Parts: sequence; structure tokens; C-alpha cells
Amino acid sequence: MFGRVKPLDAILATAQRKSLHRTLGAFQLTMLGIGAVIGTGIFVLTAEAGQKAGPGIMLSFVIAGFVCAVAALCYSELSAMAPVAGSAYTYTYAVLGEVLAWMVGWALVMEYALGASAVAVGWSHHIVGLLHDFAGITLPKQWVNSPIDGGFINLPAIFITMLITWLLVIGTTESARVNAVLVAVKLSALALFLALALPVMQAEKFHPFMPTGMSGVAGAAASIFFAYVGFDAVSTAAEETINPQRNVPIGLVGSLAICTVIYMLVAAGAIGAIGIQPVFDAAGKALEPGTVALTQRCDAIVASGAVKPLTCSHEALVYVMQQLGHLQVGNLLALAATIALPSVILMMMYGQTRVAFVMARDGLFPAAFATIHPKFKTPHVITWITGVFAFAFASILPVGLLADLSNAGTLLAFAMVAIAVLVLRVREPERKRVFRTPMVWLVSPVAVVGSLYLFFSLPMITKEFFVGWAAVGLVIYFTYSRSRSHLGRGVVEVHETDPEVPPSPVPPLPGMD
Ligand code: ALA
Repeated sequence: MFGRVKPLDAILATAQRKSLHRTLGAFQLTMLGIGAVIGTGIFVLTAEAGQKAGPGIMLSFVIAGFVCAVAALCYSELSAMAPVAGSAYTYTYAVLGEVLAWMVGWALVMEYALGASAVAVGWSHHIVGLLHDFAGITLPKQWVNSPIDGGFINLPAIFITMLITWLLVIGTTESARVNAVLVAVKLSALALFLALALPVMQAEKFHPFMPTGMSGVAGAAASIFFAYVGFDAVSTAAEETINPQRNVPIGLVGSLAICTVIYMLVAAGAIGAIGIQPVFDAAGKALEPGTVALTQRCDAIVASGAVKPLTCSHEALVYVMQQLGHLQVGNLLALAATIALPSVILMMMYGQTRVAFVMARDGLFPAAFATIHPKFKTPHVITWITGVFAFAFASILPVGLLADLSNAGTLLAFAMVAIAVLVLRVREPERKRVFRTPMVWLVSPVAVVGSLYLFFSLPMITKEFFVGWAAVGLVIYFTYSRSRSHLGRGVVEVHETDPEVPPSPVPPLPGMD
């Protein structure tokens, strides 16, 4: 069952035959990482995490950042060795075999597609807030919220996912220059936030520090983990990188380190400036974020004339500025999020189409998925499928649940990559490794345990959804993909071309067309 392993040499040969120009250096890669990482997590989910842990989210950021760091060190070894598209899926295929690779690919679909949905919902909250606070336009609540958030459907989220899908279909990729501009927009917005929040911090706002105990901190870490998701975009760009062996690890670890420092400061600023404490129900239990019960409780608090708690806000950082009286700065932050978050959606949907493309090229998804648009030369079929999937979820689920679901997929991929590094060290100790994960016998198990710890700290509904998702994946694998796998049929391909810019459709296999 675990016997189908794709030869690593075939994967490496694919990488070496790349026709794509290698243009990215360590700095651009780090920028790429920061561009993909900073988004809905810090702008929106800070409030959701605060509802779970109160000021303890400071610890949650550290825990989630630490798990990402050890996973990034494992990613670095494999992505420097095999700089090819498909990332965790491809590595798992080469080391642990087809079944687990399929499961990772299937989990990555969840990571990227539902992650794109989550960011789309975060974007929706900001544009709705901006229209209200700046232009005085109030959109009806039922059209801008999911049913769980007390609305009917989230139309702005649908709009942005469709727009991004269309941009991807016509071949838009984000140039390094556009990315650099957007990174600058996000960093300036966060710098402005810090400049105004840090000076007014008060120590007593941090008390009680852990109102829901360590389980609350762990639950918040599992959710806020989303704020770090996306750094693996760096490894998927390895094929376009000059000297990937050196630059990919720098890009991965560098972007993560910078983001961790920024997040810690921003969280400290938000807490110290206006405080963050969970909203409790009548029985004294912290209400779950993203539930009707919390929405109703928040509405009741506001109706009673009390100040709306930060944990009731869908635009955490904007709200902090508003509470401090900086209304125009709040609008600027909302504008920055509105401008910059679509690029995070684009990166995630792009990652999704790339993984699915490679899976289709391996025969695990229908070859039709990898059909190339005759004019735009993009994999338009899989892009539309991704877009429809992402908008369906974005329109009906709240941001926190979407982020949690995306996290579940990511954490599985992290655990697999960490295992793969170790297995390959044992199986092929002589293979040249330009970057070696330091203290791999410690770092890799810690990455696996850390990923599992965060996974099990996710809410029960997320874990149930994930099990259902995995079960559907296995059924598809054993009824469809396994018999059509190119590797299973004895075809080991070395691809001349780049899956990101595929020049022609994957040739149909004999008997498949
Ligand atoms: N880390 C990305 C975000 O927070 C996905 O939006």
C-alpha cells in the first residue's frame, strides 16, 4: 500500500530541466513570504483568538510561530533539495509514497481553497467597514455575513473570489514588484498601528492574562496559526529562485521570523491599548468565536450601551484605532487591508491550482483538470473549479471556521513533511543536501508533535469536518486515482516544462481519452 514512491531523481531531473528563468533572490523570496503571510490572520483573527484566550494570545502567537519555525526548517531541507512545484505533496510522493502524498495533496486543497475563502471573508469585513465608516454607506447585514454570523450570504466575499479567479484565468501572476509594493502597504499600516498603540499601553490591560487557562491559549494558537500560513509559498517558488539551495531557507525562515516579531508587537499593542477579554455566557463560559450565540451576546452588549468588546469586532486592528479616537487612521488600516488582502487570496488560489495541476499531471486527478486555456495558457479548468469551491465556502461560513479548517489541512502537510525529512535521512544518508535541518532528530519530531498538538487543539467541529474530508479523499483515491496513477501504470515522467506556465495540455494517457 505504501510501495508507490516516486523516484526522487525523476523529480530532481524535472527541476533541472526547468525552462523558467530563475530571477528571485533571497530578498525577493523573503518579501514573497511576507506578502503571502500577513493578512486576515493579524487583521481579523486577533479578535477571534482573543475570544479564546484573552491577553494569553501573546503566548498563542509564540506557540504557533514556533511550530511554523520548526516546520519551516524541515521544509527548507526538502525544498532546497527538490525545488519543484507541488511542495509538500511532491516531497511526500518521493519519500512516503502515493497514498500519503494523495492525502497531503487533498489536505493542501483544503489549506489553500478554504484559506482563500477565509481571507476573502476577512477582506469583505474590511471593505464593508470602510464603506460604512468612510463613505457612510451601510450594506444590509444579511448580504455581507454568513448565516452563522447572523446574515444570509456574504456577497463581497463572492465578488472578490470571482475577481481573483478571473485574474488567474487570464494569466495574472503577481510580479515581484507588485508584491513588494503590497508588502510595503501592509508593513506601513502595521507600523502606523504600532506607533499609535504602543505608547498608550497599560500594564493592567494584560490582567487577567489567561482567563481561560492553558486550553484557551492552545485553542487560540491553533486558530491564530492561520496568521503564519503561506510561508510555504516560498518553497513553491523555488523553481524560479537563483541559487535555491541558499536562498529558499533564508526566505522561509527569514519571512517567518520577521512576521513573528511583527505579530507579537501588534498583539501587545492591541491588548495594551484597549484590552482584550473573552465574552462569557450566563454560565461564565467563554463563547465560541464565529457562533450565533457570540454574535447575539455582542449585539446585546452594544444595545445595553456598553462599549463593544474587541473580541466582537471583525476588524480587530481597525477597531483598536477607532477606540483610541484615531478614526482616519482606522480608515487607512481598512484601506490597506482592502488593497493588500486580495494578493493573499491570489497566492492561495495560485498555490491550489499548482498543486492540483501537478496531481493531475501525475494522473491522480482527471487529466481534464490540467487543460490549458488556448489563449491565456493557464490551467483554466482547475482554476475555475478552485474559484467555485472557494466562493461557495466563503459565502456561507464565517472567517474563523474557514481559517480553522484551512489550518487542519496545513498542519497535516507540516507533519508529513517533517516525517519525510527524517525518513529520507535514514533511507538516503548519502544524498547531497545543500541545506540540512539543524538537529534534525530533535527538530523534526518536535515539528510533528507540535503540528499534532495544534491540530488537536482545534475546535471539535473542525476536526470532524477534517475527518469527513479525509474519508472522502480516501474513497476518491481508491475508487478513481489509484488505478489511473501514472506511477502505478509504470510511467515515470520527467517534465520539460513548468507547471505554473504549462505550454500544452497534459497528454492523455492511452485509454483515458
Ligand atoms: N497568513 C495569511 C493570512 O493571515 C493566510 O491571511
